[in-house]
Amino acid sequence: STVYLNGEYMPMHEAKISPMDRGFLFGDGIYEVVPCYSGGLVGFGPHMDRMNDGLKAIGIELAMSHEEWKAIALKLDGENDGENLGIYFHVSRGADTKRAHSFPSGVKPTVFAFAFEIPPAPVADKSKANSYSVSTSTDLRWKRCNIKSTALLGNVLHYQKGVDEGNQECILFDVDGFLTEGSSTNAYIVKDGVVITAPLSNALLPGITRFMLLDILRKDGRIKVEERAVSREEFDAADEVWLTSSSKEVGPVVAIDGKPVGNGEIGDVWVVAQQLFSEGKFN
Ligand code: PDD
Repeated sequence: STVYLNGEYMPMHEAKISPMDRGFLFGDGIYEVVPCYSGGLVGFGPHMDRMNDGLKAIGIELAMSHEEWKAIALKLDGENDGENLGIYFHVSRGADTKRAHSFPSGVKPTVFAFAFEIPPAPVADKSKANSYSVSTSTDLRWKRCNIKSTALLGNVLHYQKGVDEGNQECILFDVDGFLTEGSSTNAYIVKDGVVITAPLSNALLPGITRFMLLDILRKDGRIKVEERAVSREEFDAADEVWLTSSSKEVGPVVAIDGKPVGNGEIGDVWVVAQQLFSEGKFN
């Protein structure tokens, strides 16, 4: 496949970076994943805004415009096979000659992008939809999870707990027992027809799919939305549980730690929400 590295396009096997790159040594970087369905980018502006916020938060200066990033995304879409792609953008602080924790001066950020296949966007149909089973865990990550850092060891270990238990995600709760998010997704409950998700804070990523879904639901008005703390007790008593991410859109969860959510089947509110998301995501 064709990738982008520091201003050039090349086959993936020719892309090389220094082992002294701080992305490699420290996980010192920011990344994004933007979905691209048949050439149509989803949430591109918000994704770029979040990336710039992250770069600013960690003090990486990079002069690249939204238009330059978009040109890279579309070039990678054109050069790579597949109708449904995730476009991955990665900016690390760059490669120094020594390993020192302090920010090096005069080092150019490393900019990398590639495309990978993602599942087709879900269809809002219970009989065709992919459903998810999840594990749960205390959230053991750092205290700035709002930054989309490439340092993902905490997320990786949580996700792997889910995999080891035969599931496809692990949902996290803070030390007081309140929902934060999934290891690679935002998380929601539905109770009595109301969609509830944790409010934005340093404890979770401000997901672009979350942002778009809540906006679409509020504009439609049929389903009520609340952003507020969700306790473990409320979570366990939910009628429906959903996940969102760029590669999943709205994902219905049917089992938590081996126990069914509601009646163990995909819920009715999910059908409406995924339908609205499918219709509204390119607007
Ligand atoms: N994951 N929370 C975490 C911890 C995430 O890693 C992600 C995204 C999300 C959902 O954000 P968005 O809707 O902007 O994709 C929430 C990406 C896709 C990944 O790491 O591959």
